[in-house]
Amino acid sequence: MATRDRPRLDPATARQVIDPASYAEWDSLLDTFDRLREEAPVAWVESEAGIHRPFWLVTRYEDVMRVSKDNATYLNSPQTVVFSLTEGIEFAKSLTGGSPHLVASLVTFDAPIHMTYRRLTQEWFMPKNLRGLEGEIRTIAAAEVDRLLAAGPEADFVAAVSAPYPLHVVMQILGVSEQDEARMLMLTQQMFGGQDEELNQSGMKDMTTEQITMLVAGAVKDFEAYFARLTAEKRVHPTGDVASIIANARIDGKPLNDRDMMGYYIILAAAGHDTTSASTAGAMLALARDPNQWARVRADRSLLPGIVEEAIRWTSPVQHFMRTAATDTELGGQRIAEGDWLMINYVAANHDPAQFVTPRRFDAARSPNRHLAFGAGAHQCLGLHLARLEMRILFETLLDRLETVELAGQPKRAKSSFVGGLKTLPLRFAPA
Ligand code: HEM
Repeated sequence: MATRDRPRLDPATARQVIDPASYAEWDSLLDTFDRLREEAPVAWVESEAGIHRPFWLVTRYEDVMRVSKDNATYLNSPQTVVFSLTEGIEFAKSLTGGSPHLVASLVTFDAPIHMTYRRLTQEWFMPKNLRGLEGEIRTIAAAEVDRLLAAGPEADFVAAVSAPYPLHVVMQILGVSEQDEARMLMLTQQMFGGQDEELNQSGMKDMTTEQITMLVAGAVKDFEAYFARLTAEKRVHPTGDVASIIANARIDGKPLNDRDMMGYYIILAAAGHDTTSASTAGAMLALARDPNQWARVRADRSLLPGIVEEAIRWTSPVQHFMRTAATDTELGGQRIAEGDWLMINYVAANHDPAQFVTPRRFDAARSPNRHLAFGAGAHQCLGLHLARLEMRILFETLLDRLETVELAGQPKRAKSSFVGGLKTLPLRFAPA
């Protein structure tokens, strides 16, 4: 189909839906998604400045669900995230010998190899296995809350708790020792954290695309060197953590090659922390802005699972993923051509009033709450049980140890169109 036949979004809206800064202006973004769901639920987005490939933006819950579940028609390869740095992708291809991804991972694979790789760790991430980790996670949560209390009576909840906590958990499951954690955090941020200049410790905003890509490629190399050593160690002394599973995995009788093994470690490190951090901060925001709510949940812990689930929907930390059409097809009344690129927008889907009554309201009693924050279909989040477990344990600890919590200032959202959420949450609290 010729580009001119497609219902092209007006330039201002096209800029808004891809600009990382728009994701810090939440209400106005949600207003736009409300309008698009009504007027152009599958809309063609072209960049006037040519900074990204054109794509279809999908905003209705029903359509995002359909695309997510139809993994034969909608592929993850070749590119799963919208990058405004088109030249960066070309540069990455020159470094990797053709792949736009500096790392190959579950997210970039399609059938049949995707399932072969996913099955290696799927069992490990199931609730039955995770139960064995509860004690360790509780210890990490207790240490975070100790630090928060020591910093009190006021602190930024994001910096003090919600950012470091999931990172500690991920580092624990990957077998990274405590003294290496800071370096691993920096490398993870260099690889994936680049959009918000306040969060971007490496000052990428003044760099050229080529410099950024070199920095990211350097971070990947450092990561690889670290995990190569770890793999050798876990082959000799497997410890039951997920790193030991990956290090000792076999496909067709052979160990994973280095690139695939590193991709596995990196996807877990990257996917496991900013996401859970954002939903944790969102849950705290919902509780802290109404002081009675904290007291209510302290008195009735059965409210906690509903709070956790609603916080994940309400925050939708992974804001989009991209798919590529494998064949000509139809979606939401539009003809999609083979090779077309689509953005499934989880923020828009999780605020669709056709699925969620008063979607902008935080409703801990929402039932059913079949949100799409973890995606759906073959690529549905591998870590979803772990994320819920981490949040439940942290809030159990916080509810035990804090008598009251309230907002101590205006929270701020990160400028990020991929993984996003609160970057600050000033809190005042009193110990129990
Ligand atoms: C609240 C926290 C989290 C959210 C909102 C979240 C969200 C998502 C989403 C939307 C996807 C893509 C789903 C799709 O394409 O259908 C995904 C994939 C994935 N997530 Fe999570 N995630 C979270 C936490 C975690 C954690 C804690 C881990 C592990 C340590 C993890 C590991 C993964 C992996 C490995 C994939 C790729 C799965 C595949 O492609 O087969 N995530 N996640």
